[in-house]
Amino acid sequence: MACIRTRGGHNSVGTHSLSTDVYRGYKSNSCSSAPWYYRRIHWGCRYRLWNCINHSYSEMNELEICTGVPGDAAAIESLYPEAFPEEDLLPLVRDLLRDSENVVSLVGKTGSQLVGHVVFTRCGIADNSAKAALLGPLAVAPDWQNRGIGSALVRTGLRHLIDVEVELVFVLGDPAYYGRLGFAPDALVEPPFALPAECSGAWQSQYLMSIAAPYAGKLTVPLPWRHSALWSP
Ligand SMILES: CC(C)(COP(=O)(O)OP(=O)(O)OC[C@H]1O[C@@H](n2cnc3c(N)ncnc32)[C@H](O)[C@@H]1OP(=O)(O)O)[C@@H](O)C(=O)NCCC(=O)NCCS
Repeated sequence: MACIRTRGGHNSVGTHSLSTDVYRGYKSNSCSSAPWYYRRIHWGCRYRLWNCINHSYSEMNELEICTGVPGDAAAIESLYPEAFPEEDLLPLVRDLLRDSENVVSLVGKTGSQLVGHVVFTRCGIADNSAKAALLGPLAVAPDWQNRGIGSALVRTGLRHLIDVEVELVFVLGDPAYYGRLGFAPDALVEPPFALPAECSGAWQSQYLMSIAAPYAGKLTVPLPWRHSALWSP
């Protein structure tokens, strides 16, 4: 896996260009042919991001994205209250991390510091054979936001889901953010709990492969997601 380098000032490490570069880097490099020291996870690859502060290139940080391990638990427990000071997502995150069969957990690290985390949960669509997934939660440490880390976590997860033949991914979140990552509002597949009308645009999906006709029905989710409070604004 080749390393990806982007350069720019603190505010100009462009999310778009970084995301694009990361995505291209992943696509154009076969993990199976990567040297062993890049194959840190069974499917994964290693990304590097050089954040150059104030054009001085004096501070270099490397971003590495890999599958979360039990040793990351303490850092994940600290990350969520920092990223979501007004919302307690830890019970959900703990439940999801216990469900290793249905869940992909990715962490972003700079050196030994965990700076971001995302979860993808395998789901279904009622009365369908759809292979779906749900993105969330996604969190980046406040000091590390707006440097492309959230986008890189999402794009890495989507590549993994393609590898395991997931057909489409859902997310409940800000369309202004997730729209940049290829998501679009979905009116055909219902979320597990009804959303208020004003939130309907926040329910989004993205097809990861071409299929004959779009799926319709209700998303079926594993237990950790079956709490109505998780689906209300
Ligand atoms: C939302 C979050 C995950 C984004 O991660 P990030 O690494 O900071 O984001 P990226 O660097 O990939 O993208 C930054 C861009 O997205 C925009 N952005 C960030 N959060 C956004 C949001 N909620 N809505 C719309 N745009 C958003 C930024 O303004 C920035 O835009 P710019 O490139 O035009 O300057 C992160 O800010 C975070 O953890 N926030 C607190 C927790 C949270 O709200 N998570 C919910 C996700 S639904």
